[in-house]
Amino acid sequence: MSTTELGSTLPAGSAAAGETAATQPTLTGTIGFLGTGNMAEALIRGLLRSGAVKPEQIWGSEPRASRMEQIKSRYGIHVTKYNVDVVRHASIIILSVKPQILPSVLDEIAPHLKPRALVISVAAGVPIAVIEARLPTGIRVVRTMPNTPALVGAGATAIAANQHATSEDLKVTEQIFRSVGMTVVLDEEQLDAVTGLSGSGPAYMFLIIEALSDAGVKVGLSRYNAVALAAHTVLGSAKLLIETGDHPGQLKDMVTSPGGTAIAGLHTLEAGGLRTTLMNAVEAATRRSRELGEAALASLNRSRNKPES
Ligand SMILES: NC(=O)c1ccc[n+]([C@@H]2O[C@H](COP(=O)([O-])OP(=O)(O)OC[C@H]3O[C@@H](n4cnc5c(N)ncnc54)[C@H](OP(=O)(O)O)[C@@H]3O)[C@@H](O)[C@H]2O)c1
Repeated sequence: MSTTELGSTLPAGSAAAGETAATQPTLTGTIGFLGTGNMAEALIRGLLRSGAVKPEQIWGSEPRASRMEQIKSRYGIHVTKYNVDVVRHASIIILSVKPQILPSVLDEIAPHLKPRALVISVAAGVPIAVIEARLPTGIRVVRTMPNTPALVGAGATAIAANQHATSEDLKVTEQIFRSVGMTVVLDEEQLDAVTGLSGSGPAYMFLIIEALSDAGVKVGLSRYNAVALAAHTVLGSAKLLIETGDHPGQLKDMVTSPGGTAIAGLHTLEAGGLRTTLMNAVEAATRRSRELGEAALASLNRSRNKPES
């Protein structure tokens, strides 16, 4: 593991990523968001901050007038009530509605999609095959699995493409998601593992931070100080690992002096099976993600085999 490998995964604009907003290459064309909720807003903010696009290059659709106004006044992008308006204007379409709404949105936009459009989905757990089945044949589809820290520009996003997507499409998708954190490009079959690790991972980290802060209160700290110290310890440790590129075991050894406090704490964590518990958690979440994806595909196959009435 080298510094470059880990450093290159930092959010765009950070020193180790080697690119500042001013040096970011710009994206040509127009990006359209179907649904301008939390994830879409994080991406719009990241893209504008990175300088990769100008507000006039972004379109967003949203059913709620108050949200439309909010997004327009915050970012100065084009907003509309109609998904079809976005599809007509954009060359890159980002599917940023909730997974359960996605099928109806795909059916709505399919007849209006430009043949050369690139479709990028952020919908958790929706397989590429389910998206392709509702769009014209040959459409370039990229599926992504971001996580909630993208909302503060520190996300981890895995990216997988269908057979029609080009290497340029992957580069463009990486640039979009690097504006809110780090990216990795994988085969779609690995996205269940990503869901088990980084997709579900923020929940594990919040539990760990909460448990550490409970412990802090138990040993006499105020709740406020305990939460702040626990959260910054997790943040700082991750930053130290990413910026040095050192192995986590090596960094752990740096904290453990002979007969000291950290080794006494570590012994207790090992005795409690923390390592095994975390491995089991990632494995269970990966399994669950696979089950949900299989259920989505089975439902697609059932609807394909249903006789026309
Ligand atoms: N948030 C995350 O960190 C995260 C992480 C990984 C993946 N994702 C994925 O990102 C997608 C969006 O999640 P989110 O957290 O951003 O959800 P969200 O905040 O609820 O955003 C969804 C947006 O879509 C709008 N919408 C509803 N029906 C629509 C329609 N027919 N056409 C166009 N827009 C419509 C919603 O408007 P109303 O509010 O008025 O209904 C809302 O603004 C999901 O598929 C999720 O799986 C999110």
